[in-house]
Amino acid sequence: MGTSEAVLHVLSGAVPRLFSSDLCSSNLDLVFSSKYHIKSVNKKGSSYMQRFKCSRLARCQIGSYMCKPLGGGLYGNRAIGRLKLLRCKCERAESVSGVGMDEGNGAWFVDSAKKLNLNGSINSPNILEFDAVEQLKREKEGLTSNGTVGTGTSTFHKASVDSIEDEAWELLRDSMVYYCGSPIGTIAANDPTSSNVLNYDQVFIRDFIPSGIAFLLKGEYDIVRNFILHTLQLQSWEKTMDCHSPGQGLMPASFKVRTVPLDGDDSATEEVLDPDFGEAAIGRVAPVDSGLWWIILLRAYGKCSGDLSVQERVDVQTGIKMILRLCLADGFDMFPTLLVTDGSCMIDRRMGIHGHPLEIQALFYSALLCAREMLTPEDGSADLIRALNNRLVALSFHIREYYWIDMRKLNEIYRYKTEEYSYDAVNKFNIYPDQISPWLVEWMPNKGGFLIGNLQPAHMDFRFFSLGNLWAVASGLATTDQSHAILDLIEAKWADLVADMPFKICYPALEGREWQIITGSDPKNTPWSYHNGGSWPTLLWQLTVACMKMNRPEIAAKAISVAEKRISRDKWPEYYDTKKARFIGKQSHLFQTWSIAGYLVAKLLLADPNAAKILTTEEDSELVNAFSCMISANPRRKRGPKSLKQTYIV
Ligand code: GLC
Repeated sequence: MGTSEAVLHVLSGAVPRLFSSDLCSSNLDLVFSSKYHIKSVNKKGSSYMQRFKCSRLARCQIGSYMCKPLGGGLYGNRAIGRLKLLRCKCERAESVSGVGMDEGNGAWFVDSAKKLNLNGSINSPNILEFDAVEQLKREKEGLTSNGTVGTGTSTFHKASVDSIEDEAWELLRDSMVYYCGSPIGTIAANDPTSSNVLNYDQVFIRDFIPSGIAFLLKGEYDIVRNFILHTLQLQSWEKTMDCHSPGQGLMPASFKVRTVPLDGDDSATEEVLDPDFGEAAIGRVAPVDSGLWWIILLRAYGKCSGDLSVQERVDVQTGIKMILRLCLADGFDMFPTLLVTDGSCMIDRRMGIHGHPLEIQALFYSALLCAREMLTPEDGSADLIRALNNRLVALSFHIREYYWIDMRKLNEIYRYKTEEYSYDAVNKFNIYPDQISPWLVEWMPNKGGFLIGNLQPAHMDFRFFSLGNLWAVASGLATTDQSHAILDLIEAKWADLVADMPFKICYPALEGREWQIITGSDPKNTPWSYHNGGSWPTLLWQLTVACMKMNRPEIAAKAISVAEKRISRDKWPEYYDTKKARFIGKQSHLFQTWSIAGYLVAKLLLADPNAAKILTTEEDSELVNAFSCMISANPRRKRGPKSLKQTYIV
């Protein structure tokens, strides 16, 4: 069915629930005052046709009307096909603190939530400074302080650290983006000296996460709530590349607030939201991580602010389900991991991570657990919840079992038999031992281990990918032992992974012929630069979350103190180059917002480790049971096809 046909279907009422009042209204309160809503309702008789006819520019509330078919209806998305940009008249700014009109439950207007700081200790003066943590660590190790850090030195240190934090807050606030007078995000980089902005003047979903967390931890909830609800509206946008549209539920990689002339009135302008789903991005890759991060942030918002009304909204619930349906859809895959193209996450260009990259799997697992916590049970979603539970169990089993590597496992792989045809093969993926990279044999510490970057038939990508490993710890995708082992490895390999600036995005870099083939000779991804072994200060926050979860704050504190030595002086670069992160990256943007926000989140969590709970997840007992059930039914025990059919309904 073509777009216009679908629109006709919608207009003729062929899609029953599309205009049902709860759905239609659910987004209206987002940016429009009740005055405007009434006005628009008054025009309703003629307005639907007019709106579709009118343009590729749609008014905000129309988009909301059209875009939320509950239960993944087919046509809503097509109907919105003509609505290219999300638009808002600036007169609507006052509605941000208005009253939810249609939800009946007060919807998301919870300024009172500001008072609901669940973490009483947030912003408390009880700051766990690096020195104190070091002291703690020494005490833990039974050592006494050698007294080299005198009072004068630590006072000076504290003052300079405070000024770095003040500067960071100021820069973060300067990067805020407003839509109709309300803050809705932060731009990727705010470098006044750069002439080559590219798309760094946009709000990236993944880049906003540390900004959002920093604001949440500071008790500033509005910007996060606005971000969540506005990006939700973009979720159902038409997104096409050369006549092809990806699945419903995709969240954009980024969006921009544009000021455009008002329809029919040359003298006036209005603001529109213009999303990019990858159709303009370099490489044209859809961002699989955006929706997953969105779910994680949504849960963090609820946990931190105490305002659960956002996640309970019908449109938000529908948004969660659309993301889940997209991720849980059946395909050709034999693995429970999510199959994606190269560059569909933080590493958004070719780096040989197509297939089942760890970063996506860790975010997927995290988002599934977060969604499970937030989904309100209703008849229509039983199947979805069952699929989600089954996937969680299968996914954690698969990653913990097949992605894990340490000395013992490496030796096991080294002795693998190959070409095993059977249900109970040990070497299920037919990995040839010769694949074990020489660097890994040297690099693997005796104590510690990590999750490999990717697993495909006859192929293990042994590179250490930081975000995937750190988020596997934060989300509990890695077991407790594995999580400690990952942190042990980080400590053991400090000189490689942290060196002069935390944290290397992956290790080691691709070089020579391998670089040529895998990156396509990408001059931006030369060895030890950018995504190919460059160091990204933003990763500090994920490192800190992982450390807090495992109650090992001293590791994060040490990394933060390394960053503090130069990050402000270097103007908050996006990334650093060279093996030891000695240079500011070749094409690195300065005043990169997520470098700034990442640092702030790390500091805030160091001050209040408990606050990391808004981001971390744990398996509950039902999942643990289902998991052990699977373990006993599965791994290297003898089994036939029958046992494989078993499903786990949690
Ligand atoms: C680069 C990064 C990507 C980030 C974007 C904006 O493209 O690879 O992860 O979102 O810059 O900062």
